Amino acid sequence: MTRLLRGRLLWFAADPEEAGEGAHRYVEDGAILVADGLVRQAGEAAALLASVPEGTPVEDHRPHLILPGFIDPHIHFPQTQVIASYGAQLLDWLQKYTFVEEQKFADPEHCAGNAKFFFDELLRNGTTTAVAFCSVHAPSAEAFFAEAARRNLLMLGGKVLMDRNAPEALRDTPQRGYDETKALIGKWHKRGRQLYAIAPRFAITSSEAQLEAAGALAREHPDCHVETHLCENRAEIALVKELFPWSRDYTDVYEHYGLMRRNTLLGHCIHLSARERAAIAERGSVAVFCPTSNLFIGSGLFDWRAMRAAGGRIGLATDVGGGTSYSMLQTAAEAYKVLQLQGQNLPALTAFHAMTRGNAAALGLGDRIGSFEPGRACDAVVLDTGATPAMAHRMQTVATLEEELFVLMTMGTERNVAATYVMGERASVAGAGKPDGSGATSSAGRKGRA
Ligand code: GUN
Ligand code: ZN
Repeated sequence: MTRLLRGRLLWFAADPEEAGEGAHRYVEDGAILVADGLVRQAGEAAALLASVPEGTPVEDHRPHLILPGFIDPHIHFPQTQVIASYGAQLLDWLQKYTFVEEQKFADPEHCAGNAKFFFDELLRNGTTTAVAFCSVHAPSAEAFFAEAARRNLLMLGGKVLMDRNAPEALRDTPQRGYDETKALIGKWHKRGRQLYAIAPRFAITSSEAQLEAAGALAREHPDCHVETHLCENRAEIALVKELFPWSRDYTDVYEHYGLMRRNTLLGHCIHLSARERAAIAERGSVAVFCPTSNLFIGSGLFDWRAMRAAGGRIGLATDVGGGTSYSMLQTAAEAYKVLQLQGQNLPALTAFHAMTRGNAAALGLGDRIGSFEPGRACDAVVLDTGATPAMAHRMQTVATLEEELFVLMTMGTERNVAATYVMGERASVAGAGKPDGSGATSSAGRKGRA
């Protein structure tokens, strides 16, 4: 099945922090030729319209922007009813809110209902790939993958491994965590677009025996991702020091168990020593910056410049439900403010790169998603940059693409998402479409070419 998506195209062929102005591709009247869900070609609409057979459907989104779908590399599937919980920092917040809510995921029906909500909400926000922590219960990962597969979404996730410092109902054992993870990998890893992430929650909720089992799983499945949390909060770090008295530092715990490698995603990475930053960089692991969460739970300020100076890879994520928004636009807005507080900057092009190609590269999936280079999946988000009166009003004074993007990330929400595409098909999600004629279908022909 072939079709054209027409609009203002923006994607990245390189990292603006490395390639500067040459990193992005912008086509004012552009089109994407989609065949079998993949980008065959992206470029000038006139040339593409002239090249396709007469009658090829055209979904016309002008004047909206079309970008690769957003990628969220750290989010918690069981925390959709934890988000916006008042008044606690990490360790209390986990006990008081998170570990209470996650117990409900022992019920497969609760899991299934929440999975529907979760993916609807991601798509409403233009997010087409995410890396999720499920609960400790295998059925939560089952529900997560089953719903993702039903929607043909490229998703990564795993059941969390946790066998101590949590309520009885949320504890597995080293053996049970290993067996359940093994079975889930066998069933879901690389089934369709699904990928499994081995998920020791964090050092505090796993015994040494469980971290050893997680290391064994990682060794046995080198192409599975590993997702965990690192150096988010000062009380957390002090407790890790007590629990692992032999360790040089928190990062050393994960290094010791073979959990630090290129496809390891380390949530937060706020309070790091120079040694830890160097170790993360040397092993090629990814520091995942979660700004709305870091501000909301009062954890601290992620030091982007120091991580880059150390040669470390960075991802940008929501961390819902510690995070306060599913929107990668709002996430970028808060990232900008966190960096401002440290005298650093986040140019709009760098932020939009991070949300798309940058996060794809952080996941090692840059050859499959995150850009409109030929052969990538056509996962895309259509953005109406003037979707609210305040934004439309502000946009009247905008003179450049960079300015428009900066207003979009600063003021933007899911209201700016006019449509979301998964493998070239428009996702049907309540609230994702706007009755503004965006995406009106016509077909290529004499009229289309005029
Ligand atoms: N550290 C361990 N578990 C969690 C979690 O669920 N959220 C956050 N923000 N940090 C964690
Ligand atoms: Zn998290």
